[in-house]
Amino acid sequence: MIGLIPRIWMMTLQQQADEAAIRSILAEAGVPANRLFALDQSYDDAELLRLVHASAQVLGKDVDILLEDFSQTFIDDAVKRWPVWFEMAPDARSFLERQPRIHDSFARSLDDTASQPTRQAQKFRIAEIEDGLMVEYRSDNKLCGLYKSLARAVLRHYKDETGQIQESVCMHHGHDHCEIRLRWPR
Ligand code: HEM
Repeated sequence: MIGLIPRIWMMTLQQQADEAAIRSILAEAGVPANRLFALDQSYDDAELLRLVHASAQVLGKDVDILLEDFSQTFIDDAVKRWPVWFEMAPDARSFLERQPRIHDSFARSLDDTASQPTRQAQKFRIAEIEDGLMVEYRSDNKLCGLYKSLARAVLRHYKDETGQIQESVCMHHGHDHCEIRLRWPR
């Protein structure tokens, strides 16, 4: 996993936990205390998953609540860091439709991850449905909760009050992929 996600996870923790709690989270997750996640380096996916669960445990919070906080921090940061991706998409629907291509171009922009774009892009398939978009997500990381909270943060960014996010099929319930409908009822 490229360092962007764990780095913003650490930023989110710094907003709500003191140094001692952060040290406990890193120790619990087996991450070196002096680790600085670089945006352009790859880290073990399992390390991020351990960080997420250790954070919930040490802070006594639900994983879903932490994902929601992370997603707001992530989108606030992304708007400043890559404004052009938000300018290119006039609304939440077009941004969310473009998301796999954003992942793809992000990975392509990193020299040392030449083999990653296809793998990343293949995790997401987006198709048009009658009143919105159907997202198929496949990944051993099973981060559909992250997908939904990021999509909610995108809706908030565009002040979109009509978009709905519904997951009908989920890897956490034994399926081999997740299906998330993004609907804008007319
Ligand atoms: C400017 C916007 C965005 C950027 C730069 C970005 C970038 C990234 C990067 C670098 C990763 C880690 C990939 C890896 O190395 O394995 C990632 C993972 C992920 N992103 Fe994004 N992302 C963006 C927006 C979004 C949005 C809007 C959503 C959902 C609506 C989303 C959903 C996810 C999910 C679910 C993962 C985890 C995938 C997995 O490993 O299973 N991202 N993103």
